[in-house]
This record gives sequence, structure tokens and C-alpha cells, in this order.
Amino acid sequence: MTQRTALVTGGTGGIGTAIIRYLARQGHRVATNYRDQAKAEAVKELMAKEGIEVMLVPGDVKDPDSCEAMVRIIEAGLGPVEILVNNAGITRDTTFHKMSYPQWMEVVNTNLNACFNVTRPVIEHMRARKWGRIVQISSINGQKGQYGQANYAAAKAGMHGFTISLAQENAKFGITVNTVSPGYVATDMVMAVPDDVREKIVAQIPVGRLGKPEEIAHAVAFLTGEEAAWITGANLSINGGHYMGW
Ligand code: CAA
Repeated sequence: MTQRTALVTGGTGGIGTAIIRYLARQGHRVATNYRDQAKAEAVKELMAKEGIEVMLVPGDVKDPDSCEAMVRIIEAGLGPVEILVNNAGITRDTTFHKMSYPQWMEVVNTNLNACFNVTRPVIEHMRARKWGRIVQISSINGQKGQYGQANYAAAKAGMHGFTISLAQENAKFGITVNTVSPGYVATDMVMAVPDDVREKIVAQIPVGRLGKPEEIAHAVAFLTGEEAAWITGANLSINGGHYMGW
């Protein structure tokens, strides 16, 4: 295999950590950004115990200047970013009639505008080198909408619009751009949903359980592999059958 440099944003969260693990096991050099240094150091230590070295770089995906600086640090340490996983994301759930402007903006900035902020500084190198893999981690709720998530669903749906435009613009440069849309995965984000609400949601999942972070990471590893060169502009739903739209 060819060893590549990968940047996984939000690598200290449940799905992000699993993606780092899978990409590192494939032999890639992996970096992630952090805002909470203590949390990031804990993930680095956990990975080190598994024999995985992760490069930690301070960076706020909401801030274009911070992202530019983060990418330059990674390039200096590990080489140009060849695999980018736009995974960082947050929720601020509330029904729209109660939603504040900050709740709207924080979610749109972190989930959607971050795709611009992080991808823009890596795309030129990818195009020059004629190889790249970009994956947006969107959500089932960007596909079907969700009560209490007008901000999140709008941002997550926007991520796939970003994917399919970049896929067209960059196909002839050997760059594939895809979306993975996880359903409800057992992470801190989903466990923060009130128990009674979550139980009702799980009851709607045909497979009968929450997903595992590794079940998302497996798909990201597949889409970023050398052999996935003809898969671009796709939106891969991984949700236990919870939403089967196409
Ligand atoms: N459809 C229709 N009605 C609904 C509903 C739904 N899905 N969910 C709640 N309601 C109704 C309730 O039945 C209730 O009606 P009544 O007043 O007539 O009894 C009313 O809405 C208020 O419900 P709540 O008591 O839950 O209202 P709340 O203001 O306390 O909380 C909420 C609202 C914050 C949106 C809460 O319902 C909630 O957390 N929902 C879960 C949202 C969710 O799925 N978030 C996903 C987070 S994880 C993630 O985002 C990862 C990913 O990508 C999948």
C-alpha cells in the first residue's frame, strides 16, 4: 500500500477516534485538530497504547485562519494532506421556534462552514499532486430531517451539496469526494439525547441497536483507499436501516 498523510477533524470524538484508528492501521500518517488539549492528549495516549502515533494540532474548524495554520503545521510535520475527513461536528438541539441565532450559527459554522475552512487549504496540493480523498461525515438527519435539529439537518444536508460539487470539479485531478451519513451511533453526542427520546429513536432502527463508531470508520477506510478511485460524489448511508431513501 501507499502510505498517505491523513487529517481527520474532530478526532477526539467517538467516530473521529475510530476513523484515526482505522486509517492508522492501514499504515497512514494521521493528524487531528483539537481545542481541548487535555482531551486530545488522552486520545493520543490511548492510541499510543495501541501502537498508533497521532499528530495533534491546535485548530478551530470554525475559524479559517486557524485551519490554514493547522494545515501548514501538518504539512511541515507529515507532508501534504492527501486524505481529508471532515468529521468535526456539534449539536445544539432545540425546536426552531426556540432556537437562538448563536445556536444556529455555531452548528452551521462547525459542521458546514468548516468544510470550506479545512478543505480550502488542502485542495491545491491535492490537485497539484493529482491524488486525493475527501470524505464529509454528514448524518442521517441531513437526509431525513429531525425534530429539534433544523440547524444540524440544514448544515449536514449542505455538506453533501459541497461533496457533489467538489466531486465534479476535482474528478480529473484524481481526487474523490464522498459523504458518509451515519445514523445514530453510540457516541457521547447521541448519549446526550434524553434517554426516553433516544429509546424511541432506537425502536425505529430495523437492525435494533445503535451503530458502533467502527462501523463508520470501516466505510471511511474503504472510501479513502486506492481502489475506491471510481467512487465519487456518493452518499453512503450507514444507519442500521433507519433511513433507506436514495
Ligand atoms: N416528532 C413529532 N413530535 C415530537 C418529536 C418527533 N420526533 N419529538 C418530540 N415531539 C413532541 C413531543 O411529543 C412533545 O409533544 P407534546 O408537547 O404534545 O407532548 C413535544 O414535541 C415536545 O417534546 P420534548 O418534551 O422532547 O421537548 P423538549 O423541548 O424538551 O425537547 C428536543 C425537544 C430537544 C428536540 C428533544 O426532543 C430532543 O432532544 N430530541 C432528539 C433530537 C435528536 O434526535 N438529536 C440527535 C442528536 S445525535 C446526532 O445528531 C447524531 C446524528 O447525526 C444522528
